[in-house]
Amino acid sequence: EKGGYDHFMLKEIYEQPKSIKDTMRGRIHLDKGLIALGGIRDYERALANARRIIFVACGTSWHAGLVAEYLFEELTRIPVEVEYASEFRYRNPIIYDDDIVIAISQSGETADTLAALEIAKQKGATTLGICNVVGSTISRVTDAGAYTHAGPEIGVASTKAFTAQVTVATLMALHIAHFKGSINTSQFNRYLFEFQSIPDKVERVLEKAAESKVIAEIYKDATNALFLGRGINFPVALEGALKLKEISYIHAEGYPAAEMKHGPIALIDENMPVFVIANQGPSYKKVVSNIEEVKARSGKVIAIVTEGDKDVKDMADYSFEVPECDELFTPLLTVVPLQLISYHVAVMRGCNVDQPRNLAKSVTVE
Ligand code: F6R
Repeated sequence: EKGGYDHFMLKEIYEQPKSIKDTMRGRIHLDKGLIALGGIRDYERALANARRIIFVACGTSWHAGLVAEYLFEELTRIPVEVEYASEFRYRNPIIYDDDIVIAISQSGETADTLAALEIAKQKGATTLGICNVVGSTISRVTDAGAYTHAGPEIGVASTKAFTAQVTVATLMALHIAHFKGSINTSQFNRYLFEFQSIPDKVERVLEKAAESKVIAEIYKDATNALFLGRGINFPVALEGALKLKEISYIHAEGYPAAEMKHGPIALIDENMPVFVIANQGPSYKKVVSNIEEVKARSGKVIAIVTEGDKDVKDMADYSFEVPECDELFTPLLTVVPLQLISYHVAVMRGCNVDQPRNLAKSVTVE
């Protein structure tokens, strides 16, 4: 059932053009210029009028929440907080009844995320879910929600569930922004048109998978790695680091690129691979100077760049190109080479990729 792939994780990485498309299916209507999210129809007004949206999640799903924060704040101008469910639940959190608490969970069974929701409900907030498993506990206890249609995810390291979560968050943010008028119809239509081209662009990233193996071969013996990104790609840096550490057992940390000089720069030497998300966009020039800082300390730079890039490619030791797209949608492209590199590093190190030590697919105890 691995469909000819060596591991479920690799199969699931390759399924992403389809799982993203499946998650969009029946929801994007270019002809009518609308997004249909049946599951949250009764909560559109509540979302548009929300005082605040709070995402609660764990692990990779929390990273999807951080991406959602950028999307929702940029598009809807509603203040967003993103909370580790395990911290939120024990903090006696301040929740207003016009807050909307959105749980993100692949399994829909994560104990901390479920407990965070229960508290939100007790305090009178509206609760929504973004889950992958139909009929799961979180999908049942929430007032409403929108499923990801990633299909079963078997590999313990989450890949296609993450990109499906980001897809649902994007659809929700675009829909609510259009509904409340924080983006106009022509902006909305332009975003829709561009967004539906993302599965094909993910396919183009996957066509370059061989390069990820070359990069993995070179850095597979590293003992530490740093992942840097800015803006909406900062959470992708966190996700890249999590993927690498959980399956290859290489110590890895993700940072907002500008934070590097506040501490982690001390770690950089010629043995330190630094993965930098350096796509074209509002942060590009800033990231270029962060790369210069790494190179000045003999660090090795592996950059994720936009097709046709010159400046970063000249500076970086290796680079991996992704197609151009609107900044808001870039996480769906930039995360894919990081998933692939982690996968290949782990395989080369002889690790059990689909079932890493000490990890469970669904964490139903706190
Ligand atoms: C990492 C990973 C975990 C999960 C986390 C939340 O690859 O899979 O970090 O993302 O345990 O799980 P769900 O999304 O099922 O609530």
